[in-house]
Amino acid sequence: MGLFHETLDSFDDLFSHQLQDVYDAEHQIMEALPLMAGAASSSDLKNAFNVHLMETREQAKRLEQVFKLLGTEPKRVTCPAMKGLIKEGNEAVTATGDPKVKDAALIASAQRVEHYEIAAYGTLRALARQLGQDQAAALFQKTLDEEGNTDKKLTRLAESHINQEAAAAH
Ligand SMILES: [Fe+2]
Repeated sequence: MGLFHETLDSFDDLFSHQLQDVYDAEHQIMEALPLMAGAASSSDLKNAFNVHLMETREQAKRLEQVFKLLGTEPKRVTCPAMKGLIKEGNEAVTATGDPKVKDAALIASAQRVEHYEIAAYGTLRALARQLGQDQAAALFQKTLDEEGNTDKKLTRLAESHINQEAAAAH
């Protein structure tokens, strides 16, 4: 979550800050996913990253719908936590070595990103409900479901074959 450069006088302020933060995070992820897909060697992992890139574009649009519901323009406030997570992911992207081990490292980074997003959207859903913004809460729920599914898909890929192949590397 970004630093609070603005005042938090109201629950609405908190909601809009959280919204701008995750909107920035989604944009960072949109830039990172093509690099992760490019760095993956397993075709199903590559595919998972590409599918999630398409989902992420939709998630950003969903956030724009929430801004609209609030009667505000979409705005990004830098999310330093996502910067850090992506920086770590970039270490896996640029690493040399065995491609299968790299795939396992890419999954490790991507799941950290998913869990951060799951936390962020869970909070946003709760804030929206408290504010009586049921339409916004439903949009957050949709994204939460996608993030959860992506996380599970990555676990399946790791446990079905990628970790095994990485462990066989030497
Ligand atoms: Fe997302």
